[in-house]
Amino acid sequence: MAGPETSAHYERLAGSYDQNWTYNDAFLDWMAGEITGVLALTSDDRIADVGCGTGLYTGRILNRVRPAGPILCIDPSEGMLSQLPPDPLLLPVHASAEQLAKGATDSRGDHAAPVPRGSLDALVIKEAVHHVATGDRPWVITGLTDLLRPAGRFLVVMLPTRISYPLFDRALRRFEELQPDPEDIAGHMRAAGLTVDLSYRDFPLEIPKDRYLQMVRNRYMSLLAMFDDDEIAAGVDEIDRRHPEPILSFPDRFAFVLGTRKAAAT
Ligand SMILES: C[S@@+](CC[C@H](N)C(=O)[O-])C[C@H]1O[C@@H](n2cnc3c(N)ncnc32)[C@H](O)[C@@H]1O
Repeated sequence: MAGPETSAHYERLAGSYDQNWTYNDAFLDWMAGEITGVLALTSDDRIADVGCGTGLYTGRILNRVRPAGPILCIDPSEGMLSQLPPDPLLLPVHASAEQLAKGATDSRGDHAAPVPRGSLDALVIKEAVHHVATGDRPWVITGLTDLLRPAGRFLVVMLPTRISYPLFDRALRRFEELQPDPEDIAGHMRAAGLTVDLSYRDFPLEIPKDRYLQMVRNRYMSLLAMFDDDEIAAGVDEIDRRHPEPILSFPDRFAFVLGTRKAAAT
């Protein structure tokens, strides 16, 4: 999903986004640790989080790395950016991945800050690359690669093409139709000149069923915004019937696509 529905979805979701996850510190810490480790972040790195949302993970990455300069928190949703933890080391930039790749940032409000080419050591996009239209992904990934310094690292964290979430069938089928293949993202990164490593990492989630059903009612995934209120209510009933157990257990599996830019010739 890309375009105005995506923006409207995140403006609506912004205020409740963190509540869906903050009960699960172990998961949030695990994810922040994986991102920090895979990107091999150090305090000298100039870091950007593209599609950072509310900074749910960015804040945790900040606490682990304590970089000398601010982490650029880039997102096209004002609503999501307005939830960033107040910290001078989290610098909001109101822009989409496409604008960033073109070298443009939106100058509305006071969020605009240019991200010059060759200025970043590390860039992460977590669960946002699917919002870039399929046909735009090659040039957007090339444009974002250009923001990296020599030896810079570019990490895409995304769901695989199939998930084992306890969702209703129509939602799972829709997900499979829409979700980009991490192999294709890896291919775009290679075409942009990066050396690529693709790995899959799992976290065993346990969520009380009532909480999960509420997350589905809240349309915690943008995918769920495609279903109307009646369809969501029917989907919640389907999940409830299929899962008599009070705690839902399932692996949350993510693809980590890491691209590394060549080091400068010595
Ligand atoms: C599922 S949320 C992920 C937020 C955050 N990375 C996280 O994992 O909590 C997706 C985010 O991508 C942002 N987004 C939507 N379209 C985008 C685009 N074209 N470029 C960059 N970010 C986009 C949304 O505003 C939203 O904050």
